[in-house]
Amino acid sequence: MASETDVTLDVYFGDNLGILKQFPPGSFELIYIDPPFNTGKVQARTQIQTVRDDDGDRVGFKGNRYRTVRIGAKAYLDSFDDYMGFLEPRLHEAYRLLAPTGSFFFHIDYREVHYCKVLLDGIFGRDSFMNEIIWAYDYGARSKRRWSAKHDNILWYAKDPENYTYRYDEIDRIPYMAPGLVGPEKAERGKTPTDVWWNTIVSPTGKEKTGYPTQKPLSIIGRLVKVHSNPGDHLLDFFAGSGTLGEAAVRQGRSAVLIDNNPEAMEVMVKRLAFARPRFHNYTPPAELQARLAQEAGLLA
Ligand SMILES: C[S@@+](CC[C@H](N)C(=O)[O-])C[C@H]1O[C@@H](n2cnc3c(N)ncnc32)[C@H](O)[C@@H]1O
Repeated sequence: MASETDVTLDVYFGDNLGILKQFPPGSFELIYIDPPFNTGKVQARTQIQTVRDDDGDRVGFKGNRYRTVRIGAKAYLDSFDDYMGFLEPRLHEAYRLLAPTGSFFFHIDYREVHYCKVLLDGIFGRDSFMNEIIWAYDYGARSKRRWSAKHDNILWYAKDPENYTYRYDEIDRIPYMAPGLVGPEKAERGKTPTDVWWNTIVSPTGKEKTGYPTQKPLSIIGRLVKVHSNPGDHLLDFFAGSGTLGEAAVRQGRSAVLIDNNPEAMEVMVKRLAFARPRFHNYTPPAELQARLAQEAGLLA
């Protein structure tokens, strides 16, 4: 295992699939991803059917006339199919790149989680499925037509379900719901969280906010990093966005590789991760951001 002082941060710009293929098998002890939905090309495939109609515009067998009608709402299904097709080769790469005792975390929403679980079970094996973590946040407007959906799903797969990193003693403690029922000592110590994690979203006005629309809280990803990896380990997020995994990793003495194909994500990461002196690949930060990086490096040197 590398020492904490060897911590490195590498940020790659580009489509993740080709970049992932460049790393040798077993390179990472923890992989976290939070892919966007509908990244795959949306197929605007229209399904049509011909039906008998004496006023129809097509003439067929025995001179019968037909008209063409559009059927079904296929657009959603097509884009869904594409999404799974988009994800699958990347998930195979995640499996290949995971170290023998490594863990994979897949962050998704309630509309897709069940399809993704079936896909992941096929790649990792059902036995490797460890938990579905529910991140409940209770923020924003409420529906008057159904129960408001206020949670995300994080699927955890261990490459080897008999041998994986789980640092129980590192888990943060949370308050009991009814401290009066457990006695003062236990109430004082708090309890470990279950698979339901109550945690607010990144505050729109707080210091943590980077401006990247899908930024996830450092506290959620930080907990995964702390419990599921060791100092000096190598971590990967190949849908990095604002670089939350990278910040959590470096602040806890782990190295990280981040990948994103959006130039705006790169700009956010240049600023956010400057403290860790990241190495950028396939990307040159704009001059004013470079100046800022240089300044940070000078401050830290
Ligand atoms: C939901 S965001 C991730 C947010 C991140 N967890 C955070 O805390 O900021 C998903 C990211 O995946 C990136 N992305 C989408 N398709 C990609 C691809 N093919 N290769 C690399 N990145 C991709 C998007 O640019 C976006 O930044």
